[in-house]
Amino acid sequence: MSKILVLGSCGQIGTELVLALRQKFGNENVVAADLRDEYPDILNNGAYVKLDALDRPAVRSYIIDEQIKEVYLLAALLSAKAEKNPDFAWKLNMEGLFTILDLAKEGHINKIFWPSSIAVFGPTTPADYTPQHTIMEPSTVYGISKQAGERWCEYYHNKFGVDVRSIRYPGLISYKSLPGGGTTDYAVEIFYKAKAEGKFTSFLSAGTTLPMMFMDDAIRGTLELMAAPAEKIKIRSAYNLAGCSFTPAELADEIQQYLPEFEIDYAPDFRQAIADSWPNSIDDSNAQKDWGWKAHFDTKALVKVMLDNVTA
Ligand code: NAD
Ligand code: SER
Repeated sequence: MSKILVLGSCGQIGTELVLALRQKFGNENVVAADLRDEYPDILNNGAYVKLDALDRPAVRSYIIDEQIKEVYLLAALLSAKAEKNPDFAWKLNMEGLFTILDLAKEGHINKIFWPSSIAVFGPTTPADYTPQHTIMEPSTVYGISKQAGERWCEYYHNKFGVDVRSIRYPGLISYKSLPGGGTTDYAVEIFYKAKAEGKFTSFLSAGTTLPMMFMDDAIRGTLELMAAPAEKIKIRSAYNLAGCSFTPAELADEIQQYLPEFEIDYAPDFRQAIADSWPNSIDDSNAQKDWGWKAHFDTKALVKVMLDNVTA
């Protein structure tokens, strides 16, 4: 069994992805890495290394010396944080990717997972049932970095045969770890506030529809994509993946089915403009056709599992 590294492992996706990979491939074969000194307790069933994705020499030596053959590169600034710090977001979101792509080009790594996002789409993209191949004019620094990343992944695959795979994740919803500064974060925070205070102020307006996905679906989709035979992966930029779509008002209605006293109000901030530039819903027929993707959680199922597991 060759070794796997998850770089950016202490965040919303990383904590759950490391656990899923360890369950599948063995605790001893999956190393969690992150910039942080402390890692979440939940990850103490395997190795952890402090590693800065921007420290190219350190990342190179670790991967070569430890004979890591598969890398999941999750270190990035998400949409809202990136708008506050565009220069650094561009640097972090791009430089780490080149380090890993180059290691694969040189033959040190066999396979890479690098996540893209629905943020690659922009205000000129058809918003409903957004196709895999369409107009892409992202208006956020995060979206620009993800679109550029997609182009580079495809380029390294076509020119150098690098086996890199990617998904355009929608907003991810989970209860095991908190989101790290995105525009879709409201759809996690709402559950904590509903349980703790019975009310929530949404930073997006009532009618803002966005594509979302429960974390179990995202992790399963990631493992399925990475397990698929290479010849089935027809898209080397990033696959569209759909879970469900809802507005803050629709999510609040669904929560009220369980917590009738729950109240929501709205105070849109700078994240509204980001959300307005993104699709309402996603066409993921390419992922379905190429490697058999299918979402399991709709909005109802997602709300139930979140309310069952989030504590005040
Ligand atoms: P997150 O912010 O929760 O976690 C990112 C992790 O990377 C953090 O633990 C952070 O400490 C670490 N990190 C930051 N800089 C680092 C560095 N220089 N070196 C090493 N580690 C560093 O993010 P997430 O939600 O887990 O997202 C992971 C990836 O998935 C990102 O590329 C993000 O763009 C993408 N994505 C996430 C979502 C979502 O809804 N969560 C949706 C689409 C795409
Ligand atoms: N959830 C992410 C964000 O809001 C989408 O990539 O930034």
